[in-house]
Amino acid sequence: MPRIITVSSGKGGVGKTTFAVNFALTLSRVAPTVLVDLDTGTSSIRNTLETPVRKDLYHFFRKGQRLADCVTQLDPKLDPQGLFSNFSFVAAPMHSIDEITNWSDTSRWKLVHAINELPAEFVILDLRAGLDTNVIDFLPLSNSGILVFTPHHPAATLAAGDIVKSLLFRKLRFIFSTDSPFFRQHGALANQHRMVNELLNQVEDVYEDGLPNLDAFLQDLLMSLGNNPYLETIANVVHSFGVYFVLNMFDGVEESYDTAVRPFVDYLKNGLSAHLKLTNLGWVIKDDAIHSANCSRRPILLQPSEQKKAPAPLDPVMRELANIESSVFGLPEPKDVTPRISPTRDELLNISDRSPLDRQLEILNTMYHTEGSMQVRNNFAYITHRVLHVVRSLPADSFGQSQLLTPLEIFHKVFPDLPG
Ligand SMILES: Nc1ncnc2c1ncn2[C@@H]1O[C@H](COP(=O)(O)OP(=O)(O)OP(=O)(O)O)[C@@H](O)[C@H]1O
Ligand SMILES: [Mg+2]
Repeated sequence: MPRIITVSSGKGGVGKTTFAVNFALTLSRVAPTVLVDLDTGTSSIRNTLETPVRKDLYHFFRKGQRLADCVTQLDPKLDPQGLFSNFSFVAAPMHSIDEITNWSDTSRWKLVHAINELPAEFVILDLRAGLDTNVIDFLPLSNSGILVFTPHHPAATLAAGDIVKSLLFRKLRFIFSTDSPFFRQHGALANQHRMVNELLNQVEDVYEDGLPNLDAFLQDLLMSLGNNPYLETIANVVHSFGVYFVLNMFDGVEESYDTAVRPFVDYLKNGLSAHLKLTNLGWVIKDDAIHSANCSRRPILLQPSEQKKAPAPLDPVMRELANIESSVFGLPEPKDVTPRISPTRDELLNISDRSPLDRQLEILNTMYHTEGSMQVRNNFAYITHRVLHVVRSLPADSFGQSQLLTPLEIFHKVFPDLPG
């Protein structure tokens, strides 16, 4: 089963492309990986990889070529030893072409289906900045994919929180729309249905201070209606939602905690829910060598490394992947992410305002004391290792997606249990 993993950030310039390229390279050492440039206005991936591109998204959209025929392998001069032969990428067109930059619905769903058909174990999607439908429609339904933010752009941290908010509300609106199986089953309760949708609007609207977040909303609903199907459904959606993030341009535990992690967690806790499942996948250090590598169109992981000059039997990335097993820390156990069928009244009302933040500092500190935590190759090996751990140990919809879905498919495939 392929796993499609999005890399997004809300705001621009935080290092999505830098992360996506080097992460996909590292993952490709483990299994076939295709990186797709969905930032079709700026063609950033082809600008980062000095490799001739014969076919790109132009050929897919304009010339009717299969997406699988529009992938490009690394030029051998970037990978003389063939270490990254399992890596390939789909480039965006060389220059902006309006209909390819701003997809119509038809083009977007055509691309969605073609991405699902790519022959790879991992497909990494480098998304554009912003929060429009060309970003949101590629993101998962039950988790955030990988969010990238950095201590150097505080506003971008809140934008990453806004992605989580959009995804949660998108899912709730799917469930409570009048086309949904849920409505067909419970539509007789028309007044309750209207009330729930109105209250959701209030929570989403930050200018209304009546209901600050989904936890308050659930408490309100419980007080006014008692146990009811809405309560259970919303609690399951919120309590099982996974938020995964990577800190780019990391410059120390305290700085990252104060300027990125804490504001991010506070924002989610205060504006959405204290019950979201947060996983810090790791960080990438701030290093001019990373930037210079991008500018020379040979990403940092394709630069000759110090160790490689020595007669080392094992590539350092692979060695780190193998060694780091014991340092995985702070990942939820599989049982943690299984949606709770029926949250108890106490669980809904008793919200600890300490829980999500407490562990984040502890996790940062533990990662910091991991050997090699300030070396960029090890950063990517560490993140990749944690991602593989999550992919292998949690159910498929807990992290990334096994398939991108159109809205119609979401009703059929994601909510089959709701009788319709
Ligand atoms: N860890 C890092 N250390 C130093 N420089 C970095 C690092 N990560 C990214 N950069 C630099 O920061 C700039 C922005 O990075 P990048 O283009 O990857 O961000 P982005 O989020 O993809 O931007 P956009 O939203 O425009 O697509 C680039 O000049 C890149 O070389
Ligand atoms: Mg980019």
